Parts: sequence; C-alpha cells; structure tokens
Amino acid sequence: MYFLYTIIASLSLFFILKWMKRRRYFMELKRLDGKTVLITGGNSGIGKETAVAMAMRGARVIIACRDPSRAEKAVREIKLKSGSLCVFPMELDLASLRSVRDFCKSFLMREKRLDILINNAGMPGVLDWTNDGFSMCFGVNHLGHFLLTNLLLPRLKECAPSRVVTLTCSNYKYQKLDFQDLNYNLLPFFTYCRSKLANIYFSQELARITEGKGVTSYAVHPGFVQSSWTCHYSFPFQMLMQVIMWMFFVPCEIGAQTVIYCSVSDEAAEHSGGYFVDCQPATLRPFARDAGVAKKLWEASERMVRLV
Ligand SMILES: NC(=O)c1ccc[n+]([C@@H]2O[C@H](COP(=O)([O-])OP(=O)(O)OC[C@H]3O[C@@H](n4cnc5c(N)ncnc54)[C@H](OP(=O)(O)O)[C@@H]3O)[C@@H](O)[C@H]2O)c1
Repeated sequence: MYFLYTIIASLSLFFILKWMKRRRYFMELKRLDGKTVLITGGNSGIGKETAVAMAMRGARVIIACRDPSRAEKAVREIKLKSGSLCVFPMELDLASLRSVRDFCKSFLMREKRLDILINNAGMPGVLDWTNDGFSMCFGVNHLGHFLLTNLLLPRLKECAPSRVVTLTCSNYKYQKLDFQDLNYNLLPFFTYCRSKLANIYFSQELARITEGKGVTSYAVHPGFVQSSWTCHYSFPFQMLMQVIMWMFFVPCEIGAQTVIYCSVSDEAAEHSGGYFVDCQPATLRPFARDAGVAKKLWEASERMVRLV
C-alpha cells in the first residue's frame, strides 16, 4: 500500500510540475534572410537559444560577449545547432562605458545593417561596482544597454522597420526607483529588481522617442529559466538552485520563445512599448507604466553615461 501511495504521489508531483512549466511556443517560421541581429550576452542561456533561432531563420547573427573564448565556443555551438555559418562574435563588456563605445564604433564600421537588437545580457543581484563607479546590476543591465542602444539607434533607424527587444523580469514589481540613489547597492535581490524595472522604463521611453520612425521596442519577461545565472554565487547556493530550477524553471529554449516572438512576429509589431510574457502582451503594475518616471530615468541615464 505504501508503495502505491509513493507512486501516486510521485506521478501527481510529476504532472503538477509539468503543468506549472507549460508555456507557449512561437511556431511562426518567418525568414530573416538579409537581416542582421545583434544579441548581447549571446554566449549562454536565453541569449544563446535566441541566437540559434535567429540563425535558423537565415539572419546574420552577431553575439556581443565579454569573454572572447566563451564567445568563440558559443559561436561553434550555435552554428552546429542552427546549420548556419552566419554567426559571429564581437567583444563587448557592458560593465565598461569605454568598451560599449569601442564596440559601437567597430560595429558601425563593420556592419551595414542592424534590424533587431536584443538587449539580453544580464547580471543577477550581486553587490559589486563597475569601473565607471555604477552598481554592477544597474550599470550592466540598464546603463550599458542604454548607451549601446543610443549609439546604435541611427543604424536601427536607417534599417527601419527595426526592433529593440530588452530582457526584463517580473521581479521588477518588488521595487521602485529611487532617483536620489539610482546606484542602490545594498540588498542583492533588490538591486536586480531595480535594474529590471529600469529596463521596462527604458523600453517604454524608447518606444515613445522612436514613434513614427520605424523602430519599435519591447520588454520581455522570459519566465524563470534554467540558465547559468547561478554561476555568480557560492557553490552550496548553486547546488540548491540546481534542484529548484530543475523542479520549477523552464529550459532556455522555452525561455527564448517570447524574445523570438517579439523580435519576429507581426502580432508583436503592433504593441511597441509593451511588456510581454509567454508570447503575449501582459499588464504591468501601474507604477511601472508611469511615462513621467520613464522620461526622468532616460534623462538621468543620458547624464550618467555622458551622452549629454
Ligand atoms: N534565468 C531567468 O530565470 C531569468 C528570469 C527573468 C529575466 N532573465 C533575464 O534574461 C537575460 C538572460 O539571462 P540568462 O538567464 O540567460 O542568464 P545567463 O545564462 O547568466 O546569461 C547572461 C549573459 O549575460 C552576459 N553578461 C553578463 N555580464 C556581462 C557584461 N558585463 N558584458 C557583457 N555580457 C555580460 C553573460 O556573459 P558571461 O557568460 O561572460 O557571464 C551571459 O552571456 C538577463 O537579462 C536576465 O536578467 C532571466
């Protein structure tokens, strides 16, 4: 009898977990021949799976990564999985404004097109500082991508209709921005939440600024995904998270679906400035839809990265 109960309990757990992890797949196989896609942090996790999907659709794919050897390895894997030879690495460290500027200079010299920019790279909550003196989360997740997108915006406009897809996280809702302390660096999880809220405001303000100019902008929560973000933490925490991720998180291939949907689908094109979850528009908490805050953050960010 005990054996029977164990089997029933295990089967129930299996189906509950399977149900919890159910997600939509983006099935549309729209071709991207002649288009160029740039993905930050495309050497692992969601970014790597997105790169495979873009390369399979015929796009020229550039993955912008901070570690050249990890990038080369990822390029080999993406080529193998997608069957495409048009995948290239470029060096970019989003924790350094100098590196972002150098990257954009060589990208604009080398590449004639930019059709889809995917701001994917991200740091989980860590209490560290960038060389420019910004908190690591805010610096990499928001400011690095802010500068990158602004410097590449002329090329995106030339190639219109073009898209910018920015990865955020549903955890944005646990924090608000403090304009007296944008570099808040006290509790790791909260630094992450704030940087991901900044990603949402950034994406909305970008949509507003580029309205009518052929560039559209989307913020994506990919779901909770079994990627390599735990590598920034201690070994025991990594082990614990492996178990939790195995039980509750979805594989990277599924995590990439909403990113691909926003990059490619005609349906998404109509919702510039929107927030997407599970391949459909989702509703943000009212404070995250405040256009005044989005504009204020944009202007503060311009000053921080010395664009003005
Ligand atoms: N996984 C989730 O559950 C989840 C949930 C919500 C949102 N997201 C978001 O999804 C995005 C992708 O994350 P992931 O889950 O795929 O994590 P991941 O596997 O850790 O990938 C993160 C990528 O960002 C790169 N990166 C980190 N710091 C960088 C820097 N200074 N310059 C350039 N690249 C840098 C990493 O490069 P290295 O390999 O060199 O470290 C890596 O390629 C992130 O923006 C994350 O916030 C993830």
